[in-house]
Amino acid sequence: MAGSDTWAGHRAVVIGAAGAIGHACTRAFAEAGVTVTALDKDLDSAAATAATLSGDHAALALDVCDPVAVAKVAEEVWRAGTYDSVVYAPGTVFTANVADIPWARYRALMSVNLDGAFHVAQGFVRPMLAAHRPGSFVFLSSMAGLRGEAGASAYCASKFGLIGLVQSFAAEMTGSGIRVNAVAPGNVDTPMLRQVAREVAASTGPSGDPDATYASFARVGAARRLVTPAEVADACVWLAGPASAGVTGTTLRVDAGALVG
Ligand SMILES: NC(=O)c1ccc[n+]([C@@H]2O[C@H](COP(=O)([O-])OP(=O)(O)OC[C@H]3O[C@@H](n4cnc5c(N)ncnc54)[C@H](O)[C@@H]3O)[C@@H](O)[C@H]2O)c1
Repeated sequence: MAGSDTWAGHRAVVIGAAGAIGHACTRAFAEAGVTVTALDKDLDSAAATAATLSGDHAALALDVCDPVAVAKVAEEVWRAGTYDSVVYAPGTVFTANVADIPWARYRALMSVNLDGAFHVAQGFVRPMLAAHRPGSFVFLSSMAGLRGEAGASAYCASKFGLIGLVQSFAAEMTGSGIRVNAVAPGNVDTPMLRQVAREVAASTGPSGDPDATYASFARVGAARRLVTPAEVADACVWLAGPASAGVTGTTLRVDAGALVG
């Protein structure tokens, strides 16, 4: 990661800061000397994240599914001190086949993983454009945004869609000095991945073993281990900051080799 001197005056917004990867992003920014506004629908956990780090960090509640609230919070954070980068890390997942997914369940996932990303792109870019300020957006996609998986149609659709949003948004913003990129983690050692292991194991019947399923997630493709939240955060922070100034419209895989081999 770039030294903290290259970050002078940088202010970041981390959305989904109460989650495993959002927490790691908040920590990585703070360690680089960046002031962070930590946002999540779970305010208590976002505030706890901000409070444990050295620096003058803030936390606010935000439900990314509410476009009015997103615009209001973006204005509020901008007025309180502006921001230079925005990391979008909210996400939700479930395991079920297309034939079995109730529409409401599909929509609930899409509203966080994809609709929320659109609301944040729109809500948070408007103050930057109005002020003619450059900046950077980083969206958490997934290796599930690069290749389909049985049982993950809604999640994959949301993460593929997010990469399309990122590429289009990036293309629109090149003249404004605002960069837009995605990070595509592989299997990250997190409670979310534990949930997926439980659901995949349950779908195989009574013999399904969640621990063995979790262990198998470390050996996808050429990968021989899980990725850590800190490794994903380092990629997000690099894409958010000055060291990646020439990079926009890209998707950076952080998958320990899961999509090769
Ligand atoms: N964990 C993995 O293995 C993995 C792999 C690839 C991609 N990802 C993606 O990375 C991102 C972060 O994953 P994680 O493991 O940290 O997940 P997590 O469940 O730990 O964190 C997600 C956070 O999003 C917040 N959130 C959910 N709905 C929200 C809403 N409507 N408004 C605001 N906040 C909301 C939750 O409160 C939570 O703090 C997700 O987009 C996920 O899909 C995770």
